Amino acid sequence: MIRTRLVAVALAALAVSACGGDKTHDARLAKAGPNPSLAALMNVADPQIGDRKAAACKACHTFDAGAPDMAGPNLHGVYGQQMGRNRPSFGYSAALRDAGGKWDAATLDAWLKNPQAVVPHTAMMFGGISDPLNRADVIAYLRSQGR
Ligand code: HEC
Repeated sequence: MIRTRLVAVALAALAVSACGGDKTHDARLAKAGPNPSLAALMNVADPQIGDRKAAACKACHTFDAGAPDMAGPNLHGVYGQQMGRNRPSFGYSAALRDAGGKWDAATLDAWLKNPQAVVPHTAMMFGGISDPLNRADVIAYLRSQGR
């Protein structure tokens, strides 16, 4: 009985953390249509909600201009940049420094789903964000930051 209740509480906590306390998630997802493309998800993505969902990144990254690097490079203005170039002073892995691509919505989407799939041997040890709209929100947040 008590055990059942504890499981229910744990599941509720998991549901909240999975969507970042985002009450508009399902409505926005529905608005994006069935099997939404990344472009359709970006149309309903919200940078402010993405800011909150980027809490998962803040263990390793800063986002404010001029803030120091941590385990990962400062990400201010990373949207649109060459990969492995946002912070020249940061000690990037050779894998990311030599990757050669650009951080647009498509590359960020794939990266946030599974960094190792985009740049094998990257030093970013991150399990990935499985929910596509959660990724789009974080990308919208990155895009909203000027340089
Ligand atoms: C456990 C630490 C850690 C977490 C958590 C983490 N990152 Fe990273 N991130 C790194 C490291 C380390 C690098 C540099 C990777 C390399 O050099 O291969 C990196 C690199 C990046 C880059 C490339 C920067 C550039 O200049 O090319 C982006 C973009 C990025 N992270 C986004 C994110 C986002 C968004 C999140 C949250 C959803 C996140 N990261 C979570 C450690 C982390």
